Formats: sequence, C-alpha cells, structure tokens
Amino acid sequence: FLFLPLMFLIPLCQRAPFRLGVRGQQSHAAKSTVDEDHPWTGQESLAQDDPEMWDLLQKEKDRQRRGLELIASENFCSRAALEAQGSCLNNKYSEGYPGKRYYGGAEVVDQIELLCQKRALEAFDLDPSLWGVNVQPYSGSPANFAVYTAVLKPHDRIMGLDLPDGGHLTHGYMSDVRRISATSIYFESMPYKLNTATGLIDYDQMEMTAKLFRPKLIIAGTSAYARLIDYARIKKLCTDIKAYMLADMAHISGLVAAKAIPSPFEHADLVTTTTHKSLRGARAGLIFYRKGVHSVDKKGKEIRYDLEDKVNFSVFPSLQGGPHNHAIAGVAVALRQAQSSMFKEYIAQVLKNAKAMSGALLNKGYTLVSGGTDNHLVLVDLRPKGIDGARAERVLELVSITANKNTCPGDKSALTPGGLRLGAPALTSRQFKEADFVQVVEFMDEGFKIALDVKKKTAKLPDFKDFLLQDPETVARITDLRHRVEAFARPFPMPGFHDH
Ligand SMILES: *Cc1c(COP(=O)(O)O)cnc(C)c1O
Ligand SMILES: *[C@@H]1O[C@H](CO)[C@@H](O)[C@H](O)[C@H]1NC(C)=O
Repeated sequence: FLFLPLMFLIPLCQRAPFRLGVRGQQSHAAKSTVDEDHPWTGQESLAQDDPEMWDLLQKEKDRQRRGLELIASENFCSRAALEAQGSCLNNKYSEGYPGKRYYGGAEVVDQIELLCQKRALEAFDLDPSLWGVNVQPYSGSPANFAVYTAVLKPHDRIMGLDLPDGGHLTHGYMSDVRRISATSIYFESMPYKLNTATGLIDYDQMEMTAKLFRPKLIIAGTSAYARLIDYARIKKLCTDIKAYMLADMAHISGLVAAKAIPSPFEHADLVTTTTHKSLRGARAGLIFYRKGVHSVDKKGKEIRYDLEDKVNFSVFPSLQGGPHNHAIAGVAVALRQAQSSMFKEYIAQVLKNAKAMSGALLNKGYTLVSGGTDNHLVLVDLRPKGIDGARAERVLELVSITANKNTCPGDKSALTPGGLRLGAPALTSRQFKEADFVQVVEFMDEGFKIALDVKKKTAKLPDFKDFLLQDPETVARITDLRHRVEAFARPFPMPGFHDH
C-alpha cells in the first residue's frame, strides 16, 4: 500500500541532484538559475541558487570559527534563534499591533509578537501591570530614537555619556565641529563625562551640568564602560529636575536578565536594549516603558503613566512600518533561553572570563581604564605601553583576533585613540573558560609587542600598516602568531548552523 506513493516521490526527489549537477558546471556564479527547462520554485538552496553569496558566507563562517572574537558588542546567536530569523516570518506584513493590524492574515504573527512580549517581561522579572514592552524596534539605534520621539519635542534637551567616554552615538553625539548623530540634530544634547583620573562616570559634574542645562531626559547607558552604573543616583537627579530616566542596557541586557548585575528597572522610566549583544538573540531592539500609577497628587487623584501610547505611536506609525516578524521570533527564542539556568551559567562565566582577562592583562603590566571590570568587558589603555588602539587593532586583526580601538579619557584623537575594548560574551558562547582567556591574553600580548616594534620603525599609521604587510621579518612573525591563534580557536564549539 505504501509502495505506490513512494514510487511517486522518487522521480521528484531525483530532480534535485540532477539539477545541482547541471548548475555545478556553470562557470559564472551570477548566472540566472531560472530557465525554460527549470521554472523558478524558490526552493533552491542558497548554495544552488547563488554560489557567489554562498561562498562569501562560508568564508565568513570560517573567519568566525578560526578567529578569537573579542568585540564586546558581538556574540554567537543560537541555531534555534537563527532558524526563526531565517524563516517564512520574513514574508509577513503586519503594520500595527497584535489585534490591531492594518493587514489580514496576522493571526499567527499576533501570537508570536504577544509571546515575545510575555517572554521579554518574564526575562527581566517585570510585573505586566507595571511594565509594558514594544518588541518592534528594528535595532538599538531605532529603539532609542523612538523613545526620544515618544517623550520629547524637537529641540528638547537630552544628556548622555559622551561617545569618547564610552557612551553611544545615539545618546546625542556631536563633535566640536558637527552634529553627528540625528539625536543631536533633532534634539539639543549635552554630554556628561568620565572623571579622567578614575575612569568612572563623573556624577558630580553630571548633577551640576544637569541643573544648569535642565534636560528633559537623561540616558544611563554605555557601550564601552567596564563598571556598574549608579542608577539610583541618576534617578534621584531625574526626579529633582523632572526629567525622564532612560536606561539603555544594550551591552549588558544579558547580564541583567541573568541577575548578575543590578537591574535598571528599579529606577528607570524607560529601558531600551539591543537583543544581539550579551542577550545573544536575533538582531533587533526592545523598548520597555512603565505603566500603571505614576503618583498620587495632593487631592488624592492617581496620576498614571502615559508612556505606552506614546511609545507605541512613536515606533509605529511615526518611525517604522512593518515589524520584522522574523526578528521578533528570533528574539522570542533567545528570551526563552535567557530564562534558563544554562543562560545564568553562561553569564556567570562571562563575568569570570572578563575578570580573568583583566587579571591577566594587569599581571602583564597593562593599564586598564577604571583599573578593572565589573561586567563583560575591559578597556585597555595602551598609551603607557607606547602604542595606540588603532595600531593594536590592526595587528590583532592580522593574527585573527578581532577587537576594536576605543578612546580613553583624555584622548586627543578619535582615529588613533589610546584604548582597545575587549569583551568576553562571544568567546564564552564558544565555551571558553578562565584559563582560555589567559591564553588569549598571551596571544594579544605577542600582538602588542609586534605593534610596538613596528611602531618604532615607522612614522604615521599608513606607513605602519604598509610595513606590517611588507617587512619580511614582521610578516613571518604575524604569520606564525596567526597560525597558533587559529589552531587554538578552531576546535572550540560554535553555536549556530555548522556550515553557515
Ligand atoms: C549597540 C548599542 C546601541 C545601538 O544598537 P544598534 O543595534 O547597533 O543600532 C545603542 N545603545 C548602546 C548603549 C549600544 O551599545
Ligand atoms: C501598545 O503596544 C503593545 C504591543 O507592543 C500592545 O500590547 C498594547 O495594547 C498597545 N497599546 C495601545 C494603547 O495601543
């Protein structure tokens, strides 16, 4: 009885390998895969349909596998979340919110978005009567702009940590000569800074400036800061000057979910985050907003938060169109993982690894901004060693270690800043432990020594970069180090798909 349908299937199955063979013989990758004999089905694999792109993907996968990934904002997303992100959910338009869509056929994506909201609140232990969440922002920058659009009018004032001090572009960044971030074009921004002696946020100066500048919103959040933020102190300031407090926990949301560091939710009115950094999900953004009773006035009347409508309207229709349902699903998968004991252990290991990395660097005589770390990253100040972040970054890149240059307090140039930012989340997702991070520091130390030797023999940065590729002795040192780095990195497990 089963035989008949099976026979029916065989000729169909055989078509695929046959067609693959034919396509394999095509020499030009960009050639159309559709012709009269083989009408388009859209079911061809990427390897079949676009060998040129498939080849690039394989190269990137190999780069990620053989290298040591220390960029503090990066991570290796799970296969499960990537499967959701690379799914048919990409196809669905659903402008609006669950139950209030401008398109039909949204019954499933409604459930997906509601599930993502539920998990987002659960992951951060939030009471749904006190907090709501909008899961539609495309990423962290749009999430921040949506918050500003929700609660500010054009030219209202904001304060955030200056970009060179470890803040983010979207916290109002402008240079001496130019308004760079749109958040400084449409709003008036005033930075707060680090204390150059301690490398810690200068809260005294923040308070003094805020009382003069009277911002309507203060952002508590960082992209290159190795210490904890005093949310209570910033909240008190915000209350005094009647400003909103926005906590942007983009870098640390995984640590917050795992309860490994203090939560900003105790104090903030609004919280934004990316989902792809320490949280290890698909690439997107989230906005949490307070709801319920804000305060009771003198006549005993309850004053309620009005943030929900404002945030909703700002994300859609003010700033965005159709939600990225595939990303929302990938975020939901990660938010479920983030509630597991496995994730708590992962974050505990991230902190141990960052500490091991900072300890090993200090043992080797390196200077760290703020002297150490309380979170997932360290900021090395390379100036006392006679090199800078740009040169160090380039040498490390040539030996398959990826990190990024970063300004240190007091830096003059943003192009050749003195620091290097190193994060533990990505390699910890590859099961690196403390001893492995000590070995990573050994490799980096060798790289920094190459950078110092070459710096002594060259003038400007372009000469330095040319010399790295041209001087035979240096090329040999780099090649040797790269081989050892890659032989070390390759065997570690890698989350995600095995071949892309
Ligand atoms: C990364 C980051 C963002 C922006 O996220 P994107 O997804 O890159 O737009 C915003 N704020 C902070 C503090 C960040 O670290
Ligand atoms: C705001 O959006 C959320 C989903 O993001 C939804 O649950 C809520 O009902 C919306 N609120 C309003 C007032 O439309």
